[in-house]
Amino acid sequence: MQLTMVGTGYVGLVTGACFANTGNNVMCLDVDSSKIDMLNAGECPIYEPGLQELIHSNVRMERLSFTTDKRQAYLAAQIIFICVGTPTGADGKPDLSYVLQAADDIASAILEIGPDQRPKAVVVKSTVPVGTTFRVRDRIAKRVGDLPFYIADNPEFLKEGAAINDFNKPDRVVVGVENDEVGAVMLELYDPFVRQGHPIYVMDIASAEMVKYASNNFLATKISFINEMARLCEANGADIVRVREGMCADSRIGPHFLYPGLGYGGSCFPKDTLACIAMGESSSVDTLLSSAVHEVNQQQRRFFFDKIQDHFNTKGGLEGKTLAFWGIAFKPNTDDIREAPAISLMRLASKQGASIRAHDPVAADNGKRELGEALHIFDDMYDTLEGADALVICTDWDEFKSPDFGRVKRALRSPVIFDGRNLYKRAQMRNLEITYYSVGRQPVSTDA
Ligand SMILES: NC(=O)c1ccc[n+]([C@@H]2O[C@H](COP(=O)([O-])OP(=O)(O)OC[C@H]3O[C@@H](n4cnc5c(N)ncnc54)[C@H](O)[C@@H]3O)[C@@H](O)[C@H]2O)c1
Repeated sequence: MQLTMVGTGYVGLVTGACFANTGNNVMCLDVDSSKIDMLNAGECPIYEPGLQELIHSNVRMERLSFTTDKRQAYLAAQIIFICVGTPTGADGKPDLSYVLQAADDIASAILEIGPDQRPKAVVVKSTVPVGTTFRVRDRIAKRVGDLPFYIADNPEFLKEGAAINDFNKPDRVVVGVENDEVGAVMLELYDPFVRQGHPIYVMDIASAEMVKYASNNFLATKISFINEMARLCEANGADIVRVREGMCADSRIGPHFLYPGLGYGGSCFPKDTLACIAMGESSSVDTLLSSAVHEVNQQQRRFFFDKIQDHFNTKGGLEGKTLAFWGIAFKPNTDDIREAPAISLMRLASKQGASIRAHDPVAADNGKRELGEALHIFDDMYDTLEGADALVICTDWDEFKSPDFGRVKRALRSPVIFDGRNLYKRAQMRNLEITYYSVGRQPVSTDA
């Protein structure tokens, strides 16, 4: 099939490359010419394991191309996937302006192209509130009259850092359709991905839109829940690591996605939780749980920062101190820093007069763009520590999990670690005489 992906972000690029890899001809459109220039020069604008290679091989096979030319992109398409961003707007609701702009662009293209070459389907892949797919349809219909194509919603569940595997071997594919005909087109397109038993659920459009929010909101709830338990553990002398083990052995609970830390970040959970709250407001439904999940998450960063501040309060405060951060990305294996806890902590520390040094294997450039002069980047994780008053761990990249602690101690001005990911054992820190703060566990103090 001839597909057009609108937006070459994490979703548009990964899904475009994976669809090309199963034999479709895919054109990726973006309004950001710098991204398209990079892609046409053979460079991938985002870090996602395996993506660059997948793009190269499919470009070589002439199944994948990139353009800023809307006419060219829409003229060719049998199916158009809208994969543009839906960030949280100033009012807390998802900003749908990119989705609606894409709808307007598609309407203009349809008017220009004429009836013969119209697309078969316009599919909303962006995460959108219930009703948005029909808004897209109505917006296009208002311009072009009777709709000669189908509309569908196909939420995306890939995880950054494992996106290609997630797309190729999905836990499930969800498609919201208005009739069986478009359902059949989507089943054909997804057949290579679900052939080995991965389920595909075809349902009504409103339910498909809601599946995505319900899933992300539930995952966010798990994180806020375990972080609340971590706070109770810390205040009452328990150890969340042991509590987690004991709790997760219950098959009704299970071990997945229940790790205490700095709270969720990234471009999805924060905005999708807020979107549920906004959806509740506009439909007069109390979303007490979603509001609490969001609130706990906001507090978690502040709570961790308070540990840093409290430690330095007895040492003249953060003014003039240097903090070394390991990890900027909101999670490992991605360069995405949207809503990253590290950025919040760096901003808070910087405001208090601390100097910030940081290392991240792939997100350093994005961090620098976000924080500018306030952030000193180091390519080597140990160089970051030279002369710093403490190490702050924000992302659980593998390379941080068993560092050379001798080097860590020699480089730091004082042996203090704030570990937002519970990477190390307390006993090990005690033996190494490192002052150690983590999440949901008692601190290890080396003060006499
Ligand atoms: N990032 C994820 O892990 C993930 C996972 C599942 C779902 N989603 C959802 O998918 C959507 C896209 O997310 P993302 O992270 O890929 O976004 P992104 O911000 O990385 O990329 C969006 C791209 O769309 C482009 N764009 C905006 N308007 C355009 C237009 N009119 N025509 C062409 N291009 C246009 C932007 O320039 C940008 O490159 C969001 O709704 C998000 O919630 C994201």
